[in-house]
Amino acid sequence: MTSRANRSCGSYVARAVPSAGAVYPYEFAVLAMENGVPTAFRVDADRRTCARLAAGARVSATLDTSVLAIPEDGGALVVTLTRPWLSMRKYGDRGYLYTQLDAGHAAGNLMLAAAGRGAAGVLRLRFPRESLSELLEAGENCREIHSAIVVPAGTADESWTRWTVHDDTDRETRGPVWRSWLESTCWDSLTGWTGHSGSPTDETAPAPLARVRTGGQALGGRSGLGDPSGWSELIGTRVSSKAFTGEPVSAAAVWQAVSALSTPLETDLPDASPLSATLVLRSTTEPEQDAVYRLRTGERQPGPLPTTDEVARACMQQRALAGAAAVLLLHVPRASLAGPGSTADAENLRELAFRCGALGQLLYLGANRATVGVTAIGGFDTPLWRTLAGLPKDDEILYALLLGCPDDAGIKLDRLAMAHAQNER
Ligand SMILES: Cc1cc2nc3c(=O)[nH]c(=O)nc-3n(C[C@H](O)[C@H](O)[C@H](O)COP(=O)(O)O)c2cc1C
Repeated sequence: MTSRANRSCGSYVARAVPSAGAVYPYEFAVLAMENGVPTAFRVDADRRTCARLAAGARVSATLDTSVLAIPEDGGALVVTLTRPWLSMRKYGDRGYLYTQLDAGHAAGNLMLAAAGRGAAGVLRLRFPRESLSELLEAGENCREIHSAIVVPAGTADESWTRWTVHDDTDRETRGPVWRSWLESTCWDSLTGWTGHSGSPTDETAPAPLARVRTGGQALGGRSGLGDPSGWSELIGTRVSSKAFTGEPVSAAAVWQAVSALSTPLETDLPDASPLSATLVLRSTTEPEQDAVYRLRTGERQPGPLPTTDEVARACMQQRALAGAAAVLLLHVPRASLAGPGSTADAENLRELAFRCGALGQLLYLGANRATVGVTAIGGFDTPLWRTLAGLPKDDEILYALLLGCPDDAGIKLDRLAMAHAQNER
């Protein structure tokens, strides 16, 4: 997931996706045909290595049980695995939500990157995970199977040739793996956190991940993410804003960024989602447009807009970000989160957070195209935002993203060891 743009800065290497605290709590595996044999590889994107884990009948049997298949055209099945501990050791329980959001960004971005290279993929979330987890040795290593993306064969260029493959099928020769008791304890505490998945299905359809109406705004052909051939560039140059100057930004630019949320992605999730998006437009160069917009209906909601002080409080005292010109909130009625007494359209945390993370990635790329600053924020105060944006009292906010005029002079506090985003002192 390292971006190809040269945005290295000190020890920090620019990535194609944002991540809470820059910890990237996930990794990937690839299932593909190798010399005509179905084979599973563990992928280390930083070291650019692929370790062969299993091949042959075991892999075929796992694919059958999981109702998954390697595409017949020479493509691959890319599996995202989360490692919640990496985020939870910094952020505590809330790190589990961040893990799911981060994985949503990563999986959503993989789909966009593949589509940008002419090989649009299909994401699967609703499949039985046990057998694949065993094959990839996930559970025993405190990893969860997040999703699988069926990617058709595409064209390669020379930047992807510096990879090496080695054999790791013999567990005896791998050497000891370091594992902390803290991670095992954390892992044991997670049983059932994502809740039940929807019924397994291999039916998929392309659809936007949330219903978003931006139709009333005149975007003059600049809406969405534009031609997919430009997406690699947008991915390679996106960045999170470190601070906002507080200057107003053009409302049209914010609407252009937000219109990217309507980009359809092919998944096995139902078309209709309980997830809603609300846009708080608070400081634009067209003040008559400043208002709260319920994007599900397109309705403009009357009422006062949050002050800079209120934004700081609602973002857990992240003062550097309080000059944001706009805030996007992604929220669901509490009863839409799968569990006892939930509604018929309920989805589990993994599914809802996937929608949020992938929508977040679309917003990052839309903002990049519209040249507006953007940052995700995990540190937010739900009851306060609920009041400030006039959301229904039973709605749970899963994700918030800020847009504005960026001030990139300083450092990104969220990358430091201390959990500044949660007001840790
Ligand atoms: C789920 C999530 C939560 C985040 N929360 C915050 C936050 O509360 N405050 C903040 O300044 N940045 C936040 N970020 C942005 C990260 O700090 C940023 O992605 C990371 O430092 C890497 O920088 P980059 O996105 O510019 O590559 C968040 C990112 C994600 C994906």
